[in-house]
Amino acid sequence: MTDRSVYLDPALCDGCGLCLKVCPARAFSLEEGRAVFTGECTLACDHCAAACPRQAIEVEIDKPEPFAFETFFLVPGGRPEAGSSAGISQLAGLMRWRRSCRVYREKPVPLALLKDLVRIGMTAPSGTNSQAWSFTIIPEREKLLDFGQAVARFYEELNRLAEKAWLRRGLKLCRRPELDLYYREYYASVKEGLRSWREGSDDRLFHGARAAILVGSRPGASCPVEDAVLATQNMILAAEALGLGSCLIGFAVEALRRDKKIKQAVGVPPREKIHTVLVLGYPAISFQRPAARRQAPIRVVY
Ligand SMILES: Cc1cc2nc3c(=O)[nH]c(=O)nc-3n(C[C@H](O)[C@H](O)[C@H](O)COP(=O)(O)O)c2cc1C
Repeated sequence: MTDRSVYLDPALCDGCGLCLKVCPARAFSLEEGRAVFTGECTLACDHCAAACPRQAIEVEIDKPEPFAFETFFLVPGGRPEAGSSAGISQLAGLMRWRRSCRVYREKPVPLALLKDLVRIGMTAPSGTNSQAWSFTIIPEREKLLDFGQAVARFYEELNRLAEKAWLRRGLKLCRRPELDLYYREYYASVKEGLRSWREGSDDRLFHGARAAILVGSRPGASCPVEDAVLATQNMILAAEALGLGSCLIGFAVEALRRDKKIKQAVGVPPREKIHTVLVLGYPAISFQRPAARRQAPIRVVY
């Protein structure tokens, strides 16, 4: 069952049948040359209303986001010309030139800009259209440093455990090789990073970023991780287009996942899960070359 309603004005409908074709729930049928809503609106995806050339359909959506951006204007309608090579050139260029930023200026990022990024994140697709994201904005460096302290404490403890050879061996024998793997892959660099973090000489965790957005999921998401990653990628590209640098911080996600106290300290409710941590700021460097990528195999199956 759903709490969403679909209103179809039969006087406006000319029976073109587009709503039948786009509805993922196949909730429309044609009767006497007009569309009739006969099924159940399971996703509230709004495709029927968006496709209808005669504006005959309205979908009632719980708490729709007004999508007014605070820091920039969309061209009227905001719709890029479909199939325009200028559009793809801009988009592909943005994607190709985006790099993770690890050198930031001290200039703070306005909260309005961070909120606009979240709005852009929310334009992403989500499994079963659940839109059960959660976004936590940390707009100030001081709070980001508090978060960093909690993450540093987590890794100090993890390194203490990883130093115990008997524990690594014991866990490995019990088919839990993670600690041994961590010791071999990360222990030494994390130890060095922690040392410079404690000395205050080098922020190797957040790279001196001024703000962060934590993207998570609320209960009810059918594909929580994918949803969060897609929203995050939207924000990464938008940040680039807005002149901001950004960097994903997997180390912080891992700490948040394994230590509930960190989540609590950042103000994220226990029922939410965090899947990405994106730090942001105005870049202090400008890359002179786009990303070079290794060839990945492309399989074509007929
Ligand atoms: C899931 C994920 C986690 C990442 N975690 C970190 C991190 O903890 N610290 C960091 O400096 N970079 C992190 N990165 C950034 C990658 O190192 C970076 O994307 C990669 O080297 C490619 O460089 P580019 O983003 O400049 O193209 C992460 C990237 C991804 C996708």
